[in-house]
Amino acid sequence: MTDAMTRRAHELAAAGRLPAFVYDLPALDAHAAAVRAALGDVELHYAVKANPDPELLRVLARHVDGFEVSSGGELAHVRALFPGMPIALGGPGKTDAELTSDVYRLHVESPGELERLLASGCDADILLRVNLDIPIRGASLAMGGGATPFGMDPAGVAECVARLAGQDRVRLRGVHAHLASGLHAQQLLDLAAAVLEYARGLGLSEINLGGGMAVSYAEPDALFDWAAYGEGLAELRREGEVLRVEPGRSLTVYCGRYATQVIDVKRVHGRLFAIVAGGTHHIRTPATKGHDQPVVPGEAGELITIVGQLCTPKDQLSADVPIALKPGDVVELAMAGAYAWNISHHDFLMHRHPVFSYLGK
Ligand SMILES: Cc1ncc(COP(=O)(O)O)c(C=O)c1O
Repeated sequence: MTDAMTRRAHELAAAGRLPAFVYDLPALDAHAAAVRAALGDVELHYAVKANPDPELLRVLARHVDGFEVSSGGELAHVRALFPGMPIALGGPGKTDAELTSDVYRLHVESPGELERLLASGCDADILLRVNLDIPIRGASLAMGGGATPFGMDPAGVAECVARLAGQDRVRLRGVHAHLASGLHAQQLLDLAAAVLEYARGLGLSEINLGGGMAVSYAEPDALFDWAAYGEGLAELRREGEVLRVEPGRSLTVYCGRYATQVIDVKRVHGRLFAIVAGGTHHIRTPATKGHDQPVVPGEAGELITIVGQLCTPKDQLSADVPIALKPGDVVELAMAGAYAWNISHHDFLMHRHPVFSYLGK
């Protein structure tokens, strides 16, 4: 059965408009609504770094309580689109301009940042980002649980708490902890329990538990268990506490596909390759994560490795895919809605940029 994304990819091919990112906005809408419902009283912010495409943000804005941004650029982008929406600004290495921007929540990452904020004389509502020394197993990326440049260890947080005494311009609202990415519901709940215990020890009741909900590129249908996570957080939460999460990848990854066309097929030393238009300068995800990007199944065929047009062996999109491909065929890479175009080195080799196409717009 051909789905609407595939039909759109073929229309674009017929019009000579591939490569393209095709986004399914109604699917994103339904997914975000389901996530929102599963989270109950837990606040939901979207981590804009996963994909700042305005069309996606407009859909997400209907479901989220706010946006998490990590730079002045993202802040200006989101503010221009949604002037009244709460924005939390985080990220290591904030400039003075970023530190003193007027946001709903500022996630302070070091005693040095706090010192500069206090010296600025600006008002701010802050969360202190903590990196707890707890084991983090099974993560695809770990930002905490040991020596990393993200957030502060408890000694750094204690230094900040002491520094905040005797003034009321910078208001300590709570704790922020994004410790890792790629974790399943129970793993995230175990971390949440540790973070909550820590926050309670400081007498703080607003806790941002970060993002990092697992997605599987090897098993695209294995979705993060939002229901179990929502139920687990409801059990952990105490009266009067505000819990917040800020997922990125798990919200937008499924709604996007990268559609392209085969330019050449060749066999080299026995291995079959399909060279497609575009490549990892459009969708860097497989190169950064070291995985095979899932390919929308086609007619069965001999194992073929799909690569892009770049002059580097790193420009590999998916290895040993069991589909029949010939020049001119359309290839669709699934799970291209997060950390794809916006993390890619667009202008390497100066190939044409992709088209962006939206179902439901
Ligand atoms: C502070 C912070 N919050 C949220 C996220 C979103 O993580 P994910 O896209 O894995 O949900 C990240 C990702 O790096 C992050 O650094």
